[in-house]
Amino acid sequence: MTAWHAFPEGFEWGAATAAYQIEGASLEDGKGLSIWDVFSHQPGRVVTGEDGDVACDHYHRYREDVALMAELGLQTYRFSISWPRVIPFGAGEPNEKGIDFYSRLVDALLESGIRPCATLYHWDLPQALQDMGGWANRDTVKHFADYGRLMFERLGDRVPRWVTHNEPSITAILGHQWGVLAPGIRDLGVTARVIHHLLLSHGLAVQAFRASGSPGEIGITTANTSYEPADDRPETLEAVEAARDFSTRLWHGPVFGRGYPERVARYYESKGAPLPIEAGDLEITSSPTEFLGVNLYSRAQVLPDPSRGVGFRNAEPTLPLTDMGYEAAPHSLGDFVRFISDEYDRPLIYITENGVCDNTGPKEGIIEDTPRVELLRGFLVGLAEAIRDGADVRAYYVWSLLDNFEWAFGYSRRFGIVWVDYETQRRIPKASAELYRKLIQDNGLEA
Ligand code: FCB
Repeated sequence: MTAWHAFPEGFEWGAATAAYQIEGASLEDGKGLSIWDVFSHQPGRVVTGEDGDVACDHYHRYREDVALMAELGLQTYRFSISWPRVIPFGAGEPNEKGIDFYSRLVDALLESGIRPCATLYHWDLPQALQDMGGWANRDTVKHFADYGRLMFERLGDRVPRWVTHNEPSITAILGHQWGVLAPGIRDLGVTARVIHHLLLSHGLAVQAFRASGSPGEIGITTANTSYEPADDRPETLEAVEAARDFSTRLWHGPVFGRGYPERVARYYESKGAPLPIEAGDLEITSSPTEFLGVNLYSRAQVLPDPSRGVGFRNAEPTLPLTDMGYEAAPHSLGDFVRFISDEYDRPLIYITENGVCDNTGPKEGIIEDTPRVELLRGFLVGLAEAIRDGADVRAYYVWSLLDNFEWAFGYSRRFGIVWVDYETQRRIPKASAELYRKLIQDNGLEA
C-alpha cells in the first residue's frame, strides 16, 4: 500500500555545495591559499592523490550551474564562501575580485528566482591564519567575525539566509584530533581549543550580523548522527546518552544556552585538555539565532564501552552500506529531527544537508542511481512524518547538486544528483535529479 506524503505549504527545496568541493580556480583572481589547498597537495592526505584545483570548475561555470538549478526547479541554493578568496590572508585587505564572484553568483540566483543561502565557513581556513595557530588561536575568532561583517556588508541586502559554520564538529575532531581532514593535526589539547573557538566565533558572527542590520536570518549547521541503542540493557541506553553528549549536545548546548554537557567538559579536563572558556563566552555562543541547520546522513547503533574514556562505542553496522560506507538508514532523518526538536523545544530547523553516496555511472548516457533514489525517498518519507508529528522543519537541501571533491576521498565518492564528467566538465542529471524535480513540483511524494 502506498500513501501520499505531503510537505507543508511554503516548504522550500534546495541543494547544497561547498566552495572547495566545486569551485576550482584555486589560485585565480587573487585568491589566497586555504588549509585545503595546502593539505590536499601533501602526499598521502587524499587517498586518490587528487586535489580541488579544478574540481567542478564552478568558478567559471556558475551561470551554467545556476541554469541547471533552475531546470530542476530549485527554490533555494546553499553554497559556501571561500574565506581566502575574499580575504586572501584571512585578515586585512579584502580581494574585490573574489567578492565580485559571489556577488555575481547571488545575482544570477536571484534572477532565476532561487533564494541564496550562504555558509561562511565550510572548512577552508586561510592558510595564513593556520600559520598563526588556526582555530586553536583565539585571535581567529575575531578575524572570523570581521570576515562575516564584510560579507554581511557586501551581500547582506541580497542573501536572505546565512550559516556561520558548517559542521564544526568535523573541523574540530577530524581536522585536529584524528588528523584525517585539514589541517591534519592530532592533538587533544588543540582540539579542545578549536571546539570552543569555533562555537565562540559562531556567536560573534551572529552578533556582527545583527549589528549589520541585514534583513535576513542566521544560524549554525551541525553534523549529526541518529543514535540508537544496540540492545535494550540500561547501560546501553546510558551509552546512547553519552554518545549524544559527546557528539550532539556538545555542539547544541552552547548554542541553545545550555552550556557544555558536564561529562564532556570533565572528559577534556581529565585529559589535560580543558575547554578554554572565559567569562562571558557562553553568552556569546548562545546569541539568539533564527534557525538550526541540521546535516544528517545516517544512524549509529551504540554500545557501552567502559574501556574508553567516553564510555561508548559504535556497534558494527547491520544495515546495507552505501558507497561511502554509511549504513543506509532511511528512518534516521525523521528520528533525528524528532529527537533534536524535543530536546531543544522545537526550534525552526532547516535540513542543510542530507543525501546519498552512490557511484553509479552513465550507461548509454543515462544514470540510473537507484540506490540514491530509494534511500532519498526513505529519508523524505521519514522527514514528512516527523513534520506531521510536530517538528518545525521548513527547508531541505539535498547534498549535493553536483558530484564533487569529497575531501580526503577525492573524486572517488559521488553524492551529486547531477553527474560530473571531470574530463569534459559535462553535467548529466541522474535519475535522482528527476525524482527531485518531481518532488519539488508536487511538494510531496508517493511511497
Ligand atoms: C558533510 C560535509 C559535506 C560533504 C558531505 C558528504 O559532512 O559537510 O561537505 O562532504 O558530508
